[in-house]
Amino acid sequence: MVYGIILAGGIGRRMGNDKPKQFLMVGEKPIIIHTIEKFCVFPDFQKVIVLCPEQWVAYTKSLVKKYIGNNDKLVVIEGGATRNETIMNSIRYIEETDGMDEDTIIVTHDSVRPFVTHRILRDNVEAALKYGACDTVIPATDTIITSEDGKTVSEIPNRSHMYQGQTPQTFQAAKLKAYYESLTDAEKDILTDAAKIFVMKGEPVYLVNGEVFNIKITYPYDLRVAEALIAEKN
Ligand code: CTP
Repeated sequence: MVYGIILAGGIGRRMGNDKPKQFLMVGEKPIIIHTIEKFCVFPDFQKVIVLCPEQWVAYTKSLVKKYIGNNDKLVVIEGGATRNETIMNSIRYIEETDGMDEDTIIVTHDSVRPFVTHRILRDNVEAALKYGACDTVIPATDTIITSEDGKTVSEIPNRSHMYQGQTPQTFQAAKLKAYYESLTDAEKDILTDAAKIFVMKGEPVYLVNGEVFNIKITYPYDLRVAEALIAEKN
């Protein structure tokens, strides 16, 4: 069974707004609603699970009621203290409600990437069913520079091997859970990226082509870009 997991457990510190950024308006709807809509029309999902901070659960439910209406496939529950803990809450929910087996696939996606497409979702599901894990990426356009001390260049890797990570990231849920639980607390603190958990365990993570426009809304500037993208579509 395949589940759509919308990660909205963050508070958007970098956006600097009282309201977490996923609830800000872009075009005529809150960002999170644009994302939920994309997931609700994707036919493979058995359920779409939206996870947000505890104090915003009732508010999120009210937005769903207002903009989407009744939808049996959609649930809103509490996220966790970190992005990975939010993903783990979704896995716990699946275990408690439907049960989980080796075929349980979770398509995890940032609530603040409202421009995800049907094609990206389809490619994610297909790759995860076939290989167990995949990550959505686009080729890096800028040269990527690494710096250990933040002052001088350590390395300039070959750009043709560099990609920018987007979401969705899609996994066999049981494997992700087992790998995550095998990490120490210190490792959990560093591993902010779920795909990296697989990489650390030496498990392949396949690349799915993203889209340049599948942006993550992080800063106020991104909101302006998102407004322009929405206006273009209308
Ligand atoms: N996220 C989550 N649970 C957390 C933290 C983040 O589900 N405990 C989600 C965010 O809501 C967002 C996505 O992960 O949709 C990507 O994270 P990011 O852009 O870093 O969001 P925030 O953590 O909200 O932003 P900031 O780092 O600026 O506070």
